[in-house]
Amino acid sequence: MDPNLRAAAKDLMIRYGGDTFPNLFRSAKGTIVTDDEGREILDFTSGQMCSTIGHNHPAIVKAINQSCESALHMFSGMVPEPVVKLAQKLEDWLPAPLRKSLFVNTGSESNEAALRMAKLVTGGYEVIALGGSWHGTTGASAAASFASDRRGYGPKVPGNHVLPEPNAYRCPIEHCRDACDLTCLKVGLRMFDMATDAAPAALIAEPVISAGGVIMPPEGYLEALRDACDARGMMLVFDEAQTAFGRLGAKFAATKWGVVPDIMAVSKTLGGGIPLAATITSDEIEEKAHAAGFTYYTSHVSDPMPAAAGLAVMETIERENLIEQATTRGAYLRRGLETLQQKYEAIGEVRGEGLLLGVELVKDRESRAPHHELGSVTTQRCFELGLSMNIRRRPERGSVWRIAPPLTVSEDELDRGLAILDEALSDGLDQLART
Ligand SMILES: Cc1ncc(COP(=O)(O)O)c(C=O)c1O
Repeated sequence: MDPNLRAAAKDLMIRYGGDTFPNLFRSAKGTIVTDDEGREILDFTSGQMCSTIGHNHPAIVKAINQSCESALHMFSGMVPEPVVKLAQKLEDWLPAPLRKSLFVNTGSESNEAALRMAKLVTGGYEVIALGGSWHGTTGASAAASFASDRRGYGPKVPGNHVLPEPNAYRCPIEHCRDACDLTCLKVGLRMFDMATDAAPAALIAEPVISAGGVIMPPEGYLEALRDACDARGMMLVFDEAQTAFGRLGAKFAATKWGVVPDIMAVSKTLGGGIPLAATITSDEIEEKAHAAGFTYYTSHVSDPMPAAAGLAVMETIERENLIEQATTRGAYLRRGLETLQQKYEAIGEVRGEGLLLGVELVKDRESRAPHHELGSVTTQRCFELGLSMNIRRRPERGSVWRIAPPLTVSEDELDRGLAILDEALSDGLDQLART
């Protein structure tokens, strides 16, 4: 450990929010991240939800090395071969009629491009998003994000509307308990229809509202979003940043639940740790967008190196049967979490699909009062015990551990993680009882 480097990190870096650690970090391989003291930490966040095939998978390393021999970057008007190969691979995986891709770098950008396209094609500008959603930090993406960080940055893009999120555990309109009957959606749409400027463009949704607390879509919800868009002439945009490429035990949320959006944005999980994202649509919409003069010409659009990494990610998921593995390992992890739930009253609910799981921490199961203190101390304790975990914590939405290890995680690693969670809960409850 180099104390000067740690001091420089404090001294020289702008604090950008979120959880940061006193330690610095040195390397990452598979499910393990190593810090500057050589301590190995189990990574149950897949980096920032990106490293679904494990950190530094040899297939990604090889693709990057090959790009170093061929090309890293080109003039944006030149389409490199790996980019087209990735478009072909995506077409194989995508539900019809989605088949045309634009390759950008971040999740924010993929949503930016999606909303830009929806506005141009519909001629409207209004965007509906869900409560608790997170679509990014750039203009239109941030305006459509309601999980956090809206305050203090000046006026948002005009025309944004929010629907109450379908959280059956904490119904935002205090109507249901445990089974959402979609009243939140009906009420939200009624409000939108009252407020609209008659210029609807898009409804953007994460199929699983992840940063908002791993909120699963109730039965019929995504279909109802589809119908709502069709009825209003708006485009349905699915932001599959976290749900695409196997995490749910399916290729996409769209294929899992059989609802196809007009535009799909994918990011994090496509690059497996390399900045790569795509905005994907149908022939028909692409044609209309092009005819209307669509542009999204950036410095790094269609860059060859990230595309080569993305192709390696998709091929690895196929070769190593990681979609099936997300289902089996996810079920294993879920069983372990449910066993913990039987032991601890503080675990109000375990939810999720595949290897995207949420654990809701409560003061008691009847009142469901969020246990934010327990969320803080257990996450901290997990880290001390060698497990990196993410806590989603908002006063109105509860305290939820988000557990999303790489799809390559072994049962052994899951057992280790579960044992740490058990110990952290026990220690955390003891600590809080003493204070
Ligand atoms: C669902 C979703 N969409 C978009 C984003 C933004 O992606 P990025 O941070 O790569 O811009 C995130 C990031 O957390 C996300 O979770």
